[in-house]
This record gives sequence, structure tokens and C-alpha cells, in this order.
Amino acid sequence: MSFKALLTSTLALSYLSKGVLGCSRVTYNSGPADGNRTVIGRSMDWLTPTNSSLFAFPAGLQRNGSAGTNSATWTSKYGSVILTAYDLSTCDGMNSQGLTVNLLYLADGDYGPRNASMPAMSLAIWPQYFLDMYATVDEAARDLFTEGGQAKFQVRTEALIPGVPTLMHVSVSDATGDNLILEWLDGKLVVHHGKEFNVMTNEPNYDDQIAINKYWAPISNSSLPGTDRPADRFARLAHYVSVAPASSEVVSALATTNGMIRAVSVPMEPININTPNITPTLWRTIADTKDKVYYYESASDGSFFWVDLTQLDLSSSGHTLQLPMVGVNWTERVGDMTDQLEKATPFKFMEANN
Ligand SMILES: *[C@@H]1O[C@H](CO)[C@@H](O)[C@H](O)[C@H]1NC(C)=O
Ligand SMILES: *[C@@H]1O[C@H](CO)[C@@H](O)[C@H](O)[C@H]1NC(C)=O
Ligand SMILES: *[C@@H]1O[C@H](CO)[C@@H](O)[C@H](O)[C@H]1NC(C)=O
Ligand SMILES: *[C@@H]1O[C@H](CO)[C@@H](O)[C@H](O)[C@H]1NC(C)=O
Ligand SMILES: *[C@@H]1O[C@H](CO)[C@@H](O)[C@H](O)[C@H]1NC(C)=O
Ligand SMILES: *[C@@H]1O[C@H](CO)[C@@H](O)[C@H](O)[C@H]1NC(C)=O
Repeated sequence: MSFKALLTSTLALSYLSKGVLGCSRVTYNSGPADGNRTVIGRSMDWLTPTNSSLFAFPAGLQRNGSAGTNSATWTSKYGSVILTAYDLSTCDGMNSQGLTVNLLYLADGDYGPRNASMPAMSLAIWPQYFLDMYATVDEAARDLFTEGGQAKFQVRTEALIPGVPTLMHVSVSDATGDNLILEWLDGKLVVHHGKEFNVMTNEPNYDDQIAINKYWAPISNSSLPGTDRPADRFARLAHYVSVAPASSEVVSALATTNGMIRAVSVPMEPININTPNITPTLWRTIADTKDKVYYYESASDGSFFWVDLTQLDLSSSGHTLQLPMVGVNWTERVGDMTDQLEKATPFKFMEANN
């Protein structure tokens, strides 16, 4: 291992032991003059490049939860456009119905011990499951638990990067502006469902985050916390979205969303082991659930591109397509990339067999 790699992984472990990886996400509604457009923005704050690529998946794909014995299996009902991390996990994306998922870090995540009589899926495919199966948040929410109140499946995790524990929560949002926040805490699936849950960052767990925000919300017009800690980003984002003006057309709806996400993004700063709350923003996405256009903004290469889902064949007669993003010339990753996607085989989701 090179000195740089050793340093990076040592720093990664010490950061993670303090629970500090970032990411922020917001759901914005543009208002009646713009047809009540729902736009979801998110930032990805991470220690090392996420080596993402963009995939388009058609409907009709056979899926396996990649969690060993009694893995959940399903066939995708909807096509989707997604971003990977390391071509091992879906970490963000939108489906043909405008259902959007965001995978964000949650150091408090605890998936509990394996119960082999329950179907399971790897954390790496958990967000993809929602894109594959549901058109609305309400449909997804009604399908989470058995009549007895037990979650219908377990989620298992493994280290996406060796030595770095991969602990995540998921937000699911849809074209009506509905939201579902899903967290595994002490082995139980904890759910927040409603239009009001339009902000998510990282630890602590969502109920604690809401409680902290009760302090900030009433004074937020005059005072807001300014560090990059997740609770501070949450308070700021909750304020921005509560006072965000309506938009009359798509450009201002996208700009308003991106403005909020940029304002909670973390600038490039030297990695400093004594201030371990800072992982820089590497990229941002914006999902326009009305026009079904998915936007990607690199924070390290300065480029902005988009893919128009309505111009892809996401039906079961479509192909899996890929837009590579590692080792590419970024002057060729600008603007409308919809016709630049190439036929590919689906990547292999990270196995989590434990
Ligand atoms: C937008 O929402 C408003 C208020 O709920 C409603 O009256 C209006 O019909 C909606 N417009 C569209 C295009 O859905
Ligand atoms: C990410 O990609 C770079 C450049 O190809 C490579 O050196 C690095 O090992 C990759 N990282 C991971 C965790 O796969
Ligand atoms: C799904 O993948 C697991 C490995 O994670 C394998 O053990 C299992 O047999 C597969 N299930 C099906 C139905 O193909
Ligand atoms: C394991 O799952 C089965 C089937 O869903 C359930 O009946 C049982 O109570 C679970 N066991 C534990 C220890 O949770
Ligand atoms: C903050 O300011 C906005 C715009 O003036 C106002 O609508 C809102 O009620 C204020 N919020 C609080 C908590 O005072
Ligand atoms: C990147 O692409 C642009 C536009 O196609 C081209 O002009 C430039 O030479 C390329 N750069 C490299 C390093 O290949």
C-alpha cells in the first residue's frame, strides 16, 4: 500500500469512528404557477472519490438482493436512471414515474442480527428496490411491513471500501412532494412518512434531528448554526426550504433547489484529523420529478450535465445503459448526455452475506 493510500485509509477510519460522513438532501415544491413541480436536491460529501457512473435500467430486470441465503428477489416494474458508488451500489436516482431515492450516511445505523427466515437485501441494492418497484411514496410506505408489524425484509451491510463501515439511511420522494425517511435503528426499521419530512442530512437519528430543529426553527430568521455538522446543515436547510419562494418555471425551480444544496455543501478543505466534521462535497444531483430529467453537478470537475428519462427506452424492451464517469474527459460530460449512454450489463451489487 502506498503511503498516500495508507494515510487515506487511516484518516478514513478515524473519521468514520467519529461518525462524520456528510450529505444533505431537500425536497422543494415550486408551487401552482409551475404546476406544483417537485424537485429533489442532494449533495454527496465523502472522503475519497465515489468513482460513480450513471446507469439507466429498464423495467423487467431480474434482481437478487445480494445477501446470500434467502435473498429477496424481484423483477423491476419501472426503469430508472441512477448513480453508483464504485459500481457496487445505487446511491441516488429517479425512476420513470419520478420516484426518487437518496442514500445518505447515518453513523447511528444498526441493521440488527440476521434472521434467516426473513428475506434480505444488501444495503447496496436497497435504494434500487424502491426505484424498481414503486411509482409513489404512498405505495412504498404501505408495502414495508407485514400485518404483524414486522419489516418485510432485512437490510445487510458490508464495507463498500474495505475498512470503512457502510451505514446509511434512505429517503424516498415522489412527484407529489411526499417523502419517506427510512432508518434502521437497533435492528428495527423506523419510518417517517409525509410531505413535512423534506430535509435529511446525517446523524443523529431522524427523531433527534427533528427535536434539535425545534430549537432552531423559531429563531431561524435571525440565527442559524454555521458549521458543517449534520445537525447544523439540517437546521439551515430546513430554514431555506421553509422560506424558499415559489417558482413560475423550471429554470428557477432548479436554481432554487440547487441554491439550497450549494448553501449546505462543504468546500474543499485540507483533511484535518483534529476537525473531523468536514468531508467535502464531491457532487450534487437534482431530480426534476415533473419533467423526469436527472441532473448531475460535479463539485470537483466543475461540470454539469443531465439525462432526460423521457427520451430513454426504460420499458422492458429497453437495454441497460451506462455513462462512464471515471477517467473520462470532463469537457465531454457537459449538457444533455441522454444520447451518450452506451449499452452495458448491470453492475454487480455489493454482496452483504452476514
Ligand atoms: C397545484 O396545487 C394547488 C394547491 O394544492 C392546486 O389547487 C392546483 O390544482 C395544483 N396544480 C396542478 C397543475 O396540479
Ligand atoms: C477509484 O478510481 C481510481 C481511478 O481509477 C482508482 O485509483 C481507485 O482505486 C478507485 N477507488 C476505489 C475505492 O475503487
Ligand atoms: C441470490 O444471490 C445469492 C448470493 O447472494 C445466492 O445465494 C442465491 O441463490 C440467489 N438467489 C436466486 C433466486 O438466484
Ligand atoms: C424471524 O423472522 C420470523 C419470520 O418473519 C419471525 O416469525 C420471527 O419472530 C423472527 N425472529 C426474531 C428473533 O425476530
Ligand atoms: C421568517 O420570515 C418569513 C418571511 O418574512 C416569515 O414568513 C416567517 O413566518 C418567519 N418565521 C419565523 C419563525 O419567524
Ligand atoms: C477533451 O475533450 C475536448 C473536447 O472533445 C478536447 O478538445 C480535448 O483535447 C480533450 N482533452 C484531452 C486531455 O483529451
